[in-house]
Amino acid sequence: MIKSESKLRPMFHITGGNGWINDPNGLIFHDGRYHAFFQYNPHDTEWGNISWGHVVSDDLTHWEQMPTALVPSADGADKDGCFSGSAIEWKGKIRLIYTGHSVDNDTGAVTQVQCLASSDDGVRFVKHGVVIGTDRLPNGYYPSDFRDPKVWRKNDKFWCVIAARAVGGKGRVLLYSSDDLSTWNFVGDLFGKDTEGEMIECPDYRDDLGVLIISEMARPAEGGIHLNSCTTRWLSGALDYDNGRFTCRASGICDHGFDFYAPQTFNGAPVLISWLNMWGRTVPAKKYGFNGMLSVPRSLSVANGELCQTPVVNCRKVFETAVNDRLEDKFKIGKIVISAAELRKFKILLRKNARNYTRLELTNGEWIFDRSHSGESISGNEKDADSIAGIRRMPFSVKNTTEIIIVGDEFSIEIFINGKALSSTIYPDPHADALELELDCASCVYSRYDIVEE
Ligand code: FRU
Repeated sequence: MIKSESKLRPMFHITGGNGWINDPNGLIFHDGRYHAFFQYNPHDTEWGNISWGHVVSDDLTHWEQMPTALVPSADGADKDGCFSGSAIEWKGKIRLIYTGHSVDNDTGAVTQVQCLASSDDGVRFVKHGVVIGTDRLPNGYYPSDFRDPKVWRKNDKFWCVIAARAVGGKGRVLLYSSDDLSTWNFVGDLFGKDTEGEMIECPDYRDDLGVLIISEMARPAEGGIHLNSCTTRWLSGALDYDNGRFTCRASGICDHGFDFYAPQTFNGAPVLISWLNMWGRTVPAKKYGFNGMLSVPRSLSVANGELCQTPVVNCRKVFETAVNDRLEDKFKIGKIVISAAELRKFKILLRKNARNYTRLELTNGEWIFDRSHSGESISGNEKDADSIAGIRRMPFSVKNTTEIIIVGDEFSIEIFINGKALSSTIYPDPHADALELELDCASCVYSRYDIVEE
C-alpha cells in the first residue's frame, strides 16, 4: 500500500496515479485515439515488478487510465519483468512487442528476449510468448542485454530495432525484419561498432524523418552535454534496409535538462514522449505517493539538419500582451509563449513565492536554467559542479526571432527555444505561482494559455 502526505499530481502529464513509472512504451495512434503504455510498478514508488500501465487520449492532453496491460507471468520469459517495447497495428488490432526479462533462480543469469501480445478491444491484452529469442541473437552479443524493441512497417514488412551489447564491448542497435510479427530475421548491426555509451536503450527509428533516437547509459560528458547519468541523442541520416546499416549525417542531444530519458515516438504520428526523470535521482516520492511522470508530447520535425521539438498541449489563449522590459503574471499549469525580436537580455522566474523560484536566464550568450531554489531537493549521480548546484545550460543561437515556449505542470517545467528543449522536474510549494519577466529586446509578445477543460 502506498501512503503519502499529499495527493497532488501533475494535471496533464502521464503518471501511474500511485507508484513508480519509467519509460513510455507502445505509443500508438489507433482507431482515432492515442494509446500510451509505460513501465509501471503499481505497488511501490520504487522500480520493481515491472508491468505495462496504459492510458488513452483523444488530444494528447487529457488521459484516461486503463487497466494494467501486461504483468510479469509467474513463470517463463517475462517472469521478472515486462520491459520496454512498442506497439503496432496489424489486421485492425494493437500488437505489443516487449522485452521479457528473466533471472535464473539458481545462477542469477539474466536473459532478455522479445515477446508478443495482442488485443481485440485495445484494453485487454493476451500474451503470445517469445518471438525473438536468443536463438535469433547473432554470436558476439550478450543475451542479458537485448531489449526495447521498436517496431514499424515499411515496404510490406515489419522492421524492428533492438538494443544490444557486444561481448566485451558497449551499446549496439540491431535491425530485424518480419512478414508476420511472429518470425523475425536478423538484418544487421546499425553502426557495426560500439557507441560510447556502456549500453544503448530504447532505440527508435522514424523513417518519415530519417531520424534514429537512442538512449545511452553512462556516455561520457563532452562539450557541456551528456551531463546526466544516462543521455538521449538524435542522429539524422539514412537507414540501409537491405544491409541493416545506418549512415549518420548529423547528431545532437535531445534535451538539455535534468530529466529526460528513454523517449519513444508514436506509430502513426511524429510525436515523441519521454520519461521525465533520470536513473539514480532521488525525488520526494514518499511525500507525494508517486514517482515519475512522462514528458509533454512533442511534435518532431527536422530543420537545417537538426531535430526540432514543439510541445503538443490542448490549450486556449487567455491573453496576449506586448512587453517592453518587465512583466508580472501568474503561471503554474499550462503554456506561455514569448516571441522576442533581437533578444539582448532575458530573465524569467517561474513558480515563485517567498521561498521558491525556478530561473531561466540568458547570460553570456547561453541559456541558464536554475532549479536550485525550485523546492524539495532532488539529488543523484551528477557528473559536474553545475549539476550538483541545480544548473543546466543550453546554447543560444542568435535568430531574428526567439520563440520561447514554456510548459508548466504541478511538478515540471519544459522549455522549448526555437525547437531545442530543456526539461526538468521541480517540487515547489503548491502555492508558488508568481512569474516575473525582465527583458531587453526590439519587441516582444507574451501570451499565456490555459489547458482546455475536458
Ligand atoms: C530504460 C530501461 C530499458 C528497460 C526498462 C526497464 O530506462 O532500462 O532499457 O527495458 O528501462 O524498466
